[in-house]
Amino acid sequence: MPKRTIRDIELDGRRLFVRVDFNVPLREGVIGDDTRIRAALPTLRLALERGATLVVGSHLGRPGGAANPALSLLPIRERLSELFDRPVAFAPDAIGEPVTAALTEAGPGGIVLLENLRFHAGEEANDPAFADALAAPCDAYVNDAFGAAHRAHASTVGVAGRVADAAAGLLMMDELEHLGALLAPPPRPFVGILGGAKVSGKLEVIENLLPRLDALLVGGAMAYTFLKAGGRPVGRSLVEDDLVDTVRGLERAADDHGVRLELPGDHVVTDRLDAGASHATIGVDDPAIGDRLGVDIGPQTVGRYREAVAAARTVLWNGPMGVFEIPPFAAGTLAVARAVADSPATSIIGGGDSVAAVHRAGVAGRISHVSTGGGASLEFLGGRTLPGVAALPDAAGGS
Ligand code: 3PG
Repeated sequence: MPKRTIRDIELDGRRLFVRVDFNVPLREGVIGDDTRIRAALPTLRLALERGATLVVGSHLGRPGGAANPALSLLPIRERLSELFDRPVAFAPDAIGEPVTAALTEAGPGGIVLLENLRFHAGEEANDPAFADALAAPCDAYVNDAFGAAHRAHASTVGVAGRVADAAAGLLMMDELEHLGALLAPPPRPFVGILGGAKVSGKLEVIENLLPRLDALLVGGAMAYTFLKAGGRPVGRSLVEDDLVDTVRGLERAADDHGVRLELPGDHVVTDRLDAGASHATIGVDDPAIGDRLGVDIGPQTVGRYREAVAAARTVLWNGPMGVFEIPPFAAGTLAVARAVADSPATSIIGGGDSVAAVHRAGVAGRISHVSTGGGASLEFLGGRTLPGVAALPDAAGGS
């Protein structure tokens, strides 16, 4: 059911609480990547153009319900102010008098950024008193935090029912449209590429997508649980032993659905996770792996995956093909990033690492949709209802 959007609600003269996901990489106060901040700008700009005063709230990291200066949103205030080229008032606490004072400073039509919502335990507990306090200064609510929509917190769920109007922001709508199209089902062949550390984090996605996919290409450490299930030598590679039977079941389900499930045929193996460590490319059947561990897919696998992606009309990629943060083990992931960008298919990428990889490969501009949601996109594609979406009213007089 489509949701009411920011375009459907009255904003003029109103104080609008906008929940954004500014959970950006931050080291010693320096923002590593401001993609999530930029992604919220269209919603914030639209609200300002329509006459709202903005109260913008986000979490940053996992401070566990206590104030932690290392996770303050102050550096984000600076960045937001640069991007808008206008002052942004800062409320050093997300509720109470500091918010009132910041609203006075910002004035009508201004912008207030709240301090990290998770400095209060009430945020993650979806505590009614905290949700009341967040909603108190505002008349309306827009949720643009797709990346946090899988969390049932005070600012993603509680506030929605405590203001006169609630709606989805433009980024939220864009994400739901692009990811929703994958479940619609999308134009075929539909090829999924899944990688990353663990099968356990991707089980629901695999199960939910198998009836829709034509091919599933597996890489990254999660491939080793499949390889072990197939009796291949895996050395010290990361294997989830308790899931070996489960992946055999997935292989049978893929067969039943007529899905080509492809595993690496060659890989890069090394003694240790270090750029200076010696490494070699060998076949996955080769016992020469010994007690080494697999850290990237090899060139034969890249070629095969590239062909599958080139013939696809829809591609979903989530999770790197190897330990790509270590340069000698990055070739497979970067090659897959280029293959996805070169493909004429509609391409959707989710998950922080694959998103970083398309940026690193310089091809992000050629991807149809780069999702801002990691866990949220996986839960959505796994068929789960996202609480932050469910809390919003349906379009055209719905709930
Ligand atoms: C994310 O980065 O995936 C979101 O901001 C959610 O963060 P969380 O996993 O700490 O809830």
